[in-house]
This record gives sequence, C-alpha cells and structure tokens, in this order.
Amino acid sequence: MADYIMALDAGTTSNRCILFNKKGKICSMAQREFHQYFPQPGWVEHDADEIWASMLGVAVEAMNRIGVEAADIAAIGITNQRETTIVWDKETGEPIAHAIVWQCRRTAAYCDSLKEQGYVDSFRKKTGLVIDAYFSGTKIKWLLDHVPGARERAEKGELLFGTVETWLIWKLTKGAVHVTDYSNASRTMLFNINTLQWDEEILKVLDIPKCMLPEPKPSSCIYGETDPSYLGGPIPIAGAAGDQQAALFGQTCFEPGEAKNTYGTGCFLLMNTGEKPVFSRNGLVTTIAWGLDGKVNYALEGSIFVAGAAVQWLRDELRLIDSAEDSEYMAKKVKDTNGCYVVPAFTGLGAPHWDQYARGTIVGITRGVNKYHIIRATLESIAYQVHDVLVAMKADSGIDLTSLKVDGGASANNFLMQTQADFIQAPVKRPSCVETTAMGAAYLAGLAVGYWKDKEEVKENQEVDRIFTPELDEKTRKTMVRGWEKAVRYAYGWAR
Ligand code: G3P
Repeated sequence: MADYIMALDAGTTSNRCILFNKKGKICSMAQREFHQYFPQPGWVEHDADEIWASMLGVAVEAMNRIGVEAADIAAIGITNQRETTIVWDKETGEPIAHAIVWQCRRTAAYCDSLKEQGYVDSFRKKTGLVIDAYFSGTKIKWLLDHVPGARERAEKGELLFGTVETWLIWKLTKGAVHVTDYSNASRTMLFNINTLQWDEEILKVLDIPKCMLPEPKPSSCIYGETDPSYLGGPIPIAGAAGDQQAALFGQTCFEPGEAKNTYGTGCFLLMNTGEKPVFSRNGLVTTIAWGLDGKVNYALEGSIFVAGAAVQWLRDELRLIDSAEDSEYMAKKVKDTNGCYVVPAFTGLGAPHWDQYARGTIVGITRGVNKYHIIRATLESIAYQVHDVLVAMKADSGIDLTSLKVDGGASANNFLMQTQADFIQAPVKRPSCVETTAMGAAYLAGLAVGYWKDKEEVKENQEVDRIFTPELDEKTRKTMVRGWEKAVRYAYGWAR
C-alpha cells in the first residue's frame, strides 16, 4: 500500500499541496500565492493557466521535499475555492478569458433583474441558493455574452465550463475527464440539489448550453488518473469537494447538527443537516456537503465574503501591519477599539444580509482612534460576522451549538478566537491541524481507494489543540453587538 495521500488545495489567493499519512499528519507541504486581478471596482479575476501551473509546481515541490514518487501516493484529493468560473477551449485547453472569481460583483445588476422577474423562490427550491453574483451561473452567462464569439462556440460544443476542481482534473488528465463533484456543482446556481442534475429550466433562463457543463459525480470516487508526464507516473484522482465542504469533512462533522467555521479569505460556517436539505428562512444557503457511499449529505451554510482578506487589506493596502500574524499582537496593544467599527464589506455582504451593493466602511472614528484600534476593530469584525451567521443558523435549525469547531489560517490568531468565543458565548475548539480543508479532500480520496477503511477510522485522527471559553460579561457583549449592527447599516447599499 502506498504511504501518502496528496491533497491539492486550490484557494483564493494561493495553491497548496499537502502530503498526508494514515494518521492524518502533514508529511510535506508546498505553497504558492498567485496574482489577483482587480480590473474594475468590485471585480476580481484570476488567470486559470497560472492556477494550473502553480498547482502543478507545488505538487512536484511537495513530492521532491521528501523524495516521494508517484507510486508512493495512493490517491489525490482536490479541494478548491468554489464558484470561481473558468471557460476554456475544449481542443486547445486555452481559457477564453480570465477566471471570474467568486468575490466578483460584475453580474449584480443581472441578478437584480432575475429577482425582479420573480425567480427567487423557484431558484431557491431547486438550487438551495439565493440569487447573487457570488455563484457561478451568472458568471458563465457574462462570459458567453461578453467574450466575442463565445456563445456560438459554446453552442457548437467547442467550449467547456468548470469550477477550479473541474479545471484541475481536466488538466491533470490531459483533457480526458470533464467532471465536477456534487458539492461544487451545488454552488453554480445551475444544479438541482434535489435531483442531482443540471436544471434544464435554469439553464434556459440563463441561456447556458448544457453541453459545456461537466458531469456531476460524488465527492469520493475515482474520476481518472493523472497523465504520467506530470508527476512521474499515474495517480488516481479520487476525491473532490469545495473547500468549505471539505473542511466540514476534515473536521469530521459527519453527524447532523455538527458544524465548523473556516477562517480563510472569507469565513464559512457550515452545519451538517443530514440526508435531507433544510431550506433557510434566515439568509443562509442550502448546499450539498458531499456525495459519499451512494448517499448525499446536505449542509446549511453562512457565507461571509471577507475575513482573512480584511487582515490582508490591513497588510497590503493600509500597510498597518507587516504580516498577518502581527495583527494579534497589535490588537492587544489597546484594551478596546475606542468606539470604532470596521465593516469589511469590500465585495458586498453575504449571509445573512445578502446586499450585493454594500461596501466597506469605518465608523465611530474620533481624534483618539489610532492604528491599533483599527486593527483590533478589523479582527473583531470577523468575529461579529460569524456571530450574525450563528444567530441565523440557530433560527433555521433550532440547534443551539454547544461549541464551534474552527480551522483555516486565521484560526491561529488567539485574540480572534477568544473574541469569537466571547461574542458567541460558546467554547471555540481549535484542532491541532488547522489544515482541515486539505485533510477533508485527502480523506475523501483515501476513502475511495481504501487507504482509510471508513469514517470511523478517519475520526480517530482528530486532535484538539486548544479550547477558548467565553470570558466577556454579557452587558459589554450586548453593547458591542448593538454597535456592530448599527455600523453594518452604514455599509448597506453604498454602491447602488
Ligand atoms: O465560496 C468561496 C470559498 O470557497 C473560498 O474559500 O478559503 O479561499 O476563503 P477561501
């Protein structure tokens, strides 16, 4: 039996390859950031070729670091930034344009027109989603409408669509396999999560030819093998899931009612709701968690668009910190935010507000507010947003979480985790390995090829690093939350 499972984690700002062993331990890792393009305010793009090249690069690097060969790898699991939309030429493999990233707001007006035409309820029932520029469907339409000749070529079957996992599988198999997994398909706004098929009616409304769509498959199954020229031999690609669903799996939230929150570029709180979709009345979306062992698991999701990205903004745009890690130490230099609130609605607001036109704001600035207050307020804004989603989740599911499992890069920030526990008044549990997204993809792939026997065996790998328990008094907490709610209202509708 081969020793490792390779996880390819295609994130929003970087690509990573991690080699895991049977105990779920990281044996090798390589990471590369890639370019972010902002051609207009509110627009975000990636170069799909760069995503592919850097992913292949990190895969080779991770293998070389510990002298691993293709035969030592039992399978590859892929996890990815979801919704990001790539359309490419079936023959040449050339993308017809930059990938439109999930954060991109360019189709907001078209989404408004869909809402005005009365599609909100029918789309929700079929796809579990709210109509928003976030999801892939309207992004595909935009490309077909704006890239010269694209629609004709798509109709003739010359173009293919994929989210990032589809693109990477297609590239790794040298164009032999064009598939997506159910969890990623459920983020396109084109997929019927009840029937597990592309929805003909929605395709008609959005005028998207079905022939360009990938074949939807479970999240744990052998899709194909890597072309031997890439990694020194063929390796089965046996798992794929959107990064948030993969993290839910990696945190072993296998039972209904179990939930996790991932602090990445954005912040995504998902609760497993079992084998039946639960439709939200409080601004959450219903999504497919994974398809495994002939069954489909659903989840309720609160999608927050900007979390870790707000810390990057402090570093790269405001230049208040040199590294993301510094934010913890700087935030603790002051005892509070001095009445100031940062609302990082840089790309609109997701759950539970869903305002495509909201934009970032800082309120409550007085003469005494310094950079430490702004840094602290930015970290607090992440915890406030998660609190808002948790309130909605409780209302939808009737479940009051006894604790919150956390992961993702920013979960390493102890100040943020303590603040989170304070705001939600529940313990926050951080695992020893916060790479749960990659771990989830590895587990899905490993289960498909028998590297791990079953979910129970996978569960044995879970280890808790630290539990943060609430410390803040209730009166202060309520006052702070009220201030946040007032601040958010200033962000509403700004770009309309
Ligand atoms: O839906 C977008 C999400 O998949 C992006 O995740 O980790 O890059 O913030 P992340």
